[in-house]
Amino acid sequence: MSFYLRKATIEDAQDILRWRNDPATRENSFTKNKISLMSHMNWFGRKLADENCHIFILMDGEKKVGNIRVDVTDEVGEISYMIAPDARGKGYGKKIIALLEEELRQEETGVKTLTAFTLKENMASARCFEVNGFSCEDAGDSLCYSKSI
Ligand SMILES: CC(C)(COP(=O)(O)OP(=O)(O)OC[C@H]1O[C@@H](n2cnc3c(N)ncnc32)[C@H](O)[C@@H]1OP(=O)(O)O)[C@@H](O)C(=O)NCCC(=O)NCCS
Repeated sequence: MSFYLRKATIEDAQDILRWRNDPATRENSFTKNKISLMSHMNWFGRKLADENCHIFILMDGEKKVGNIRVDVTDEVGEISYMIAPDARGKGYGKKIIALLEEELRQEETGVKTLTAFTLKENMASARCFEVNGFSCEDAGDSLCYSKSI
């Protein structure tokens, strides 16, 4: 199998919106409202242009199976990610985090620590960070995962 990350482009906007608006994604997000096309396009365009933001698509061969984003502030990269609804439960969530770490080391982005906030009930996401060696702290409503890379 050939899994790899590639940089996201504006052509990925529609797929990412579809994945963002999937009910399980909204349920596991800190803001629950459905995202409009206009608001998504404004946000996605800004993120693509932001040099402190890195967005990648996980490819399995020719198929797009998920995306992962890192927003960098002072050497700390905060992760946000999701797997396409029809590709969940097949190990891609664990894989996308591992590949992100490799990518950030190769790109010399200056990221020294990765963090991620997950809702406490998001067991699948918790497992993805645990398997990748992140440590976990209670952050009230959420769990904060972190790892030095
Ligand atoms: C969370 C998410 C990224 C996980 O990706 P995935 O590809 O489905 O996860 P994987 O197939 O790699 O499985 C991860 C682990 O979670 C486990 N898991 C899956 N669903 C679970 C559940 N409901 N309860 C407990 N464990 C669960 C799997 O068994 C696997 O564990 P294992 O290694 O012990 O077998 C994906 O489900 C998703 O996109 N969800 C919606 C968006 C989201 O929640 N993003 C993260 C916000 S922090």
